[in-house]
Amino acid sequence: MLVKTYGSAVLGISATKVTIETEISRGAKFYLVGLPDNAVKESQQRIEAALRTNGFRVPGKRIVVNMAPADIRKEGAAYDLALAISVLAASDQIRVEESVLEKYLIMGELSLDGGLRPIRGVLPIALNAKEEGFEGIILPKENSKEAAVVEGLNVYGLDNLMQVVDFLEGTLKLEAEFIDIKNEFYHKLDHIQLDFSDVKGQENVKRAMEVAAAGGHNMLMVGPPGSGKTMLARRLPSILPPFVLDEALETTKIHSVLGNVTSGMSLMTERPFRSPHHTISDVALVGGGAFPQPGEISMAHNGILFLDELPEFKRNVLEVMRQPLEDRVINISRAKFSVQYPASFMLVAAMNPCPCGYYNHPEKECVCSVGAIKNYLNRISGPLLDRIDIQIEVVPVPFKDLSKVRPSESSKLVRERVIKAREIQQNRFSEYEGIYSNSQMSTKMMQKYCVVDDAGSSLLKAAIERMGLSARAYDRILKVSRTIADLEGVETIQPHHLAEAIQYRSLDKDSWGMK
Ligand SMILES: Nc1ncnc2c1ncn2[C@@H]1O[C@H](COP(=O)(O)OP(=O)(O)OP(=O)(O)O)[C@@H](O)[C@H]1O
Ligand SMILES: [Mg+2]
Ligand SMILES: [Zn+2]
Repeated sequence: MLVKTYGSAVLGISATKVTIETEISRGAKFYLVGLPDNAVKESQQRIEAALRTNGFRVPGKRIVVNMAPADIRKEGAAYDLALAISVLAASDQIRVEESVLEKYLIMGELSLDGGLRPIRGVLPIALNAKEEGFEGIILPKENSKEAAVVEGLNVYGLDNLMQVVDFLEGTLKLEAEFIDIKNEFYHKLDHIQLDFSDVKGQENVKRAMEVAAAGGHNMLMVGPPGSGKTMLARRLPSILPPFVLDEALETTKIHSVLGNVTSGMSLMTERPFRSPHHTISDVALVGGGAFPQPGEISMAHNGILFLDELPEFKRNVLEVMRQPLEDRVINISRAKFSVQYPASFMLVAAMNPCPCGYYNHPEKECVCSVGAIKNYLNRISGPLLDRIDIQIEVVPVPFKDLSKVRPSESSKLVRERVIKAREIQQNRFSEYEGIYSNSQMSTKMMQKYCVVDDAGSSLLKAAIERMGLSARAYDRILKVSRTIADLEGVETIQPHHLAEAIQYRSLDKDSWGMK
């Protein structure tokens, strides 16, 4: 008898249906085809053990299990359950109608005693099940909340092989897992602990951060040790606009593929804040490996990637980030396939101005030579610096003043302004898919939405000549100006918006370090 069960293979952050066909005939061997060699053997052993401990057997006949399409890379363990059910049905050890097997996509790793272990990539897999028209999906219990995010799909989370058998035979009745997405999504939105009001003074830096948050702009803070750069960066999430549902889904897909979505968790409700250490490798940062995995830039998708002590990162590591910074996706090619991971993140970086840290310090003396400062700055290439929209110097608040400064504005108030500015942007870009903020504008969109009047044009021209800015820096200024005008709620970009944006380029190579 030929029996078909269905699974799904994750590629990048989407998934494809996999059909598992089992045929049993006279003979004596177990053939499993369509999986990588080492995975086949392990899978076969787990299935045999799980069947035996649950009172079934692997029939002493010729068993051929084929997983199609063959050319898709499949990670072995997640198919254990669908394979086991397929063998059981084909050998008449369980009575399941074909019409029942056709209804479900089945995924799960088996332990030797038949228990079900959670798998990775459940969100893309569940979306694939819906897309392929399956009525439901059968999964390990730990994964059921994650899958239940997909509306219009019945999700059944089970503990072990026997439960799955009983469910398919119709002797175990189950309610599908249900989560109220709107509720899950919105009730968690106000759980941010670190607040802007903890930072005394630094009004200009906070203003720059507000602009960055409002437009999704990349930002670099330069300042001496102890000036509060790290402290400020860690508070940036508290003023970011909340996720829109689509953003949350996309970001969750990436973390789902990595297996970061833990038991009982459904959708990510907060924008990610990733802060990898400066010893990170290029693969860990941008993704890759023999079996490609998303890197930090993708884990930060729709959120923040914070690179503290920027010049300490290896130069090649910073350079591989240039392309994704521009394209907002990363392509990883292998001989037989290629994958793409989204990587639309806000880069927030911090650094000292020189090796000793005190260049331009109001009180302390810098002991570095001009050459040493130059070398230090050169660790960050011009093209990378060009891609950072907002560059700002952080001057320490003198210790004696820290206690005197009035308590500053709370994150909540700043965030309200940021949200208003984002709403304007969302309306502006409503006809474009995947564009949520000014930082994401293409050249074409900039021509349409960043119109500058004559007074503005001459201001820009003068600044470019004076500071020797690149064409890319010019684009960044326009985008940041657009955001500043949006924060003010005005349609046309005016000279004072441009002037503020130009000020955020003051650290560009040509004018900085050699002052
Ligand atoms: N404006 C401020 N208001 C309140 N506390 C501050 C302020 N500036 C600095 N501090 C205090 O100083 C500490 C050091 O700040 P932080 O670690 O953010 O400095 P940094 O600029 O990142 O320094 P480094 O270059 O050494 O990493 C903070 O944890 C905080 O306690
Ligand atoms: Mg720091
Ligand atoms: Zn110095």
